[in-house]
Amino acid sequence: LTVSDLGDLRGKRVLVRSDLNVPLDGKTIADDGRVRASVPTIKRLADAGARVLVTAHLGRPDGVPNPDYSLEPVAERLAELLGTPVLFAGDTVGPQAHRISAALQDGQVAVLENVRFNEGETSKDDAVRGAFADELAALADVFVSDGFGVVHRKQASVYDVATRLPAAVGELVEAEVTVLKRLTESPERPYTVVLGGSKVSDKLGVIDNLLAKADNLLIGGGMVFTFLKAQGHEVGKSLLEDDQLDIARGYIQQAEAQGVRLVLPTDIVVAPAFADADAQVVAADAIPSDQLGLDIGSDSAAAFAEIIRGSKTVFWNGPMGVFEMASFAEGTRSVAQALTEVDGLSVVGGGDSAAAVRQLGFSDDQFGHISTGGGASLEYLEGKTLPGLSILEGN
Ligand code: 3PG
Repeated sequence: LTVSDLGDLRGKRVLVRSDLNVPLDGKTIADDGRVRASVPTIKRLADAGARVLVTAHLGRPDGVPNPDYSLEPVAERLAELLGTPVLFAGDTVGPQAHRISAALQDGQVAVLENVRFNEGETSKDDAVRGAFADELAALADVFVSDGFGVVHRKQASVYDVATRLPAAVGELVEAEVTVLKRLTESPERPYTVVLGGSKVSDKLGVIDNLLAKADNLLIGGGMVFTFLKAQGHEVGKSLLEDDQLDIARGYIQQAEAQGVRLVLPTDIVVAPAFADADAQVVAADAIPSDQLGLDIGSDSAAAFAEIIRGSKTVFWNGPMGVFEMASFAEGTRSVAQALTEVDGLSVVGGGDSAAAVRQLGFSDDQFGHISTGGGASLEYLEGKTLPGLSILEGN
C-alpha cells in the first residue's frame, strides 16, 4: 500500500519512520541528503491535513539517551526545508511525545527524539521489541514507512510497528524500490557495477549476486588490494583482508567463467602514510613495500570512466579512494563524472558515495538516482528479504 491507499488523512495522527541518520560535525549536519529525501512524504502528509509524527534514529547510541545523538538539530533542518515550524519531543514514547501527539493540529509536524535511545528499538528479543512497538503505535492512528536506509533492519519502528497500525510505504521507499527493481529485474545492457569502499567482506553477498547479473564489475577503493594480492601482486602497506584472499580469487575465476568483465585498476596512487602528502602513481603490480595505495590511478580512472559512459545501466557503491584528501580524490571524481554522462540509468547507492559526490561538488540532479540506503540498497541488490519491506507486503 502507498499513502494514496490510506484514504482521507485529515486529523489523523500519522507516525512516519524516516531515515534521518545524517553525518554530524558536532551539531552541524555535514550532508543533509537524507533529510531532504524525507521531505516529500512528510510534506504530502501535512498538506493532506495529517498530524505528522516523525520517528527516526541517529547513529548507534545502543538504547541509551545520549545528547551527542539527539535529533534536535535534524528537526531544525527539517523545519527549514519544509518552511514551517517543526515541534520536537525530547523523548520518543514518553510524556513529551504523548503531549505533542495529543496537541498536534491538522497539518503540523513533530519529530520524536532518537528512537534508538530506547533499548526496545533494536532488541533481538521479539517480546521486548514488540512492547516498544506498542508504545510507538499508541502515539498514532496510521504508520508510514519511509526510511529506506533502514528497511534492512528488523527493528521496532521499522518492522514491528507496521503490524500494529494500518500501514503503507511513503514516497521515498516507493521511489527507491522502483529504481532498484529496475536494476535487479530488467537492467538495460550493458549493465556496469562499480564497487569501492574499504572491505571485500562487506560486499561478499552483493558481488556473488552481481556476478550473475552485471556485464562489467569495476573494483576500486580499499578492497582492491585484496584482489590484487589474490592475483599474486605485492600490495605494500595497503589495506588487506588476508582471510578474504581465497574468496577474491574465487570471484576472479567465477567472473571469467560467467563471462563477466571484472576490471581491476592497472595503476594506483600511493603514499608512504595515510596522509595527504608525497603521493605518486605506480603500476598496480608494482606497489613498493613501504607505500600504501589510497586511490586508483589516472589510467584506471580513465578506463573505468570509458566503460561507465558506454553503459546503459550503472550502479555505483563505495568511493574509489580516500576522497576526503585532495591527492586521493581523483578516482572517485572521475567515476562520479562518468556517471553523470551515462545515456541511461545511473544510480549512486549508499551514504558514503552520496556524501562523496556532494562533497566533490556534484549535484543530485546530475544522476539518475541517489539512493539514501547504503546497507539497504546493497542487501536489496543481493536479493535478500528486507524486513521493513516484507512486513508491509505481508500486511
Ligand atoms: C544507514 O546509515 O545506513 C542507515 O541509517 C542504517 O543505519 P544502521 O546501519 O546504524 O542501522
